[in-house]
Amino acid sequence: MHYLLVGPGALGCLLYALMAKGMHQNDRFTVLDYNRERAELLSRRGVIYQCGAAERLLPVTTASDPETLEPVDVVLLCVKSYDVKNSLDFCAPILGEKTLLLFLQNGISHLELDTCGHKAYQAYGTTTEGATLLGPGHVRHAGSGTTSLGFITPPDEHFKNLLQKTADTLTRSGLQVNITGDILARIWTKLFINVGINALTATLNCKNGELLTLPGVDKRMRAAVEEARLVAAAQDIIVPVDPFDAARQVCRNTAGNISSMLQDVRKKRRTEIDAINGAIVLMAREHGISTPENDRLVKQVKELEATYENG
Ligand code: PAF
Repeated sequence: MHYLLVGPGALGCLLYALMAKGMHQNDRFTVLDYNRERAELLSRRGVIYQCGAAERLLPVTTASDPETLEPVDVVLLCVKSYDVKNSLDFCAPILGEKTLLLFLQNGISHLELDTCGHKAYQAYGTTTEGATLLGPGHVRHAGSGTTSLGFITPPDEHFKNLLQKTADTLTRSGLQVNITGDILARIWTKLFINVGINALTATLNCKNGELLTLPGVDKRMRAAVEEARLVAAAQDIIVPVDPFDAARQVCRNTAGNISSMLQDVRKKRRTEIDAINGAIVLMAREHGISTPENDRLVKQVKELEATYENG
């Protein structure tokens, strides 16, 4: 198997560090990074994986030109939701008819993209693992969760096998992984979690676990998640868990984690607000559902983003 990871951010580096441990001897793993400087740094130094007090350095093969790559079996697309389209254009040369392309984004906006002209077969994944990027290629595993993988369009045996092998590698790496026949419900469950956690942590500048104790936050989280649940129900999406309980459980499991949105704000990077709370607001409008809490969160995060330019 030849795995290719696109997007060495927090989740990408975490998956690489863990999969490097779970791979079979004949498996290969390449990290593709359009940023040549970062690709060179990673290939010189390796990926640093930190978990509690333990730290490991993992050598990594990188590339910054997709044309130079040997054929790949599975592409793990770990870029931010707003970078999906550009990344697909960038990796088009290696997305062949036999390639499995696994989308691992927060939010829901990547589901609406068509295949952008590539030939690969699409699968989707969602994870509640907590990961913090401490520097280029330096990740802290900040909390464990569950990873679900699956197809929206039923695949043939070839792609089923590729997804199974990927899941097996992740399981050997120590992650809790399942292949589900209802990935849409899992993506929505994760969306509820991100709706409840990310914008609140970003605007309150707090760790995930603090959302459970800060005064008045519980009510806001419940309202944001409930608005999202109404939107899901209007689209006949049934999730097997209570969305608010699920968000609170992830706060507990990843209590010490800085959410991806707060990491973005602290680094003055664009956030995924449009793919998370923003997507809920847009879908709600189509169904005539009002979303005061999500409107407020979107506004507050956009205001934070607007301050970047002023230094
Ligand atoms: O975006 C994030 O930070 C993560 O999806 C999660 C699970 C909320 C943990 O921080």
